[in-house]
Amino acid sequence: MEDKIRVLIPEQEVDEKVKEIGKRISEDYAGKSVHLICVLKGGVFFTCELAKRISVPVSLDFMSVSSYGSGTESSGVVKIVKDLDEPLAGKHVLIVEDIIDSGRTLSYLIEILKQRNPADIRICTLLDKPSRRVKKEVQVDYTCFSIPDEFVVGYGLDYDQKYRNLPYIGVVEL
Ligand code: IMP
Ligand code: MG
Repeated sequence: MEDKIRVLIPEQEVDEKVKEIGKRISEDYAGKSVHLICVLKGGVFFTCELAKRISVPVSLDFMSVSSYGSGTESSGVVKIVKDLDEPLAGKHVLIVEDIIDSGRTLSYLIEILKQRNPADIRICTLLDKPSRRVKKEVQVDYTCFSIPDEFVVGYGLDYDQKYRNLPYIGVVEL
């Protein structure tokens, strides 16, 4: 059966916001280069679009993590499924996420990456669900959109591995 998807944030709005955040990042990192860490798989579409909008030198690396535990709640204990290819020492690291929900995954990831001695670590997310935050200490530097507590798909986000390729952010009507 096909799911019904309601558009939450249309394609043009997402594209404009990504452009705007890219510009802000370029200004904030002026005179430096930025090392983007894409958190797979959800972050891949956003990372590519964002990278195209950043005008300072960009390098890219990819990481895949999975959260232990069952059900829809992430446990906060994260297993590295695919580690980064390159060291982080001295780099200006920007973690690029699709969505921050409880913040557990990100909180754990930051702790792991801090131990690799980057010059600094910042966080950039396409979406944030602030009402769902458990890890209040997680500071997000760049947020494209804050959204209500709804399950969203598109622009990298999936429902059962489907809909990552939608060019907009949508809500699956169950
Ligand atoms: P957290 O550890 O609770 O912040 O979990 C974040 C992860 O949960 C994201 O990287 C997504 O993989 C997944 N997630 C949370 N909310 C949604 C949603 O609305 N749609 C799709 N995936 C989601
Ligand atoms: Mg993710």
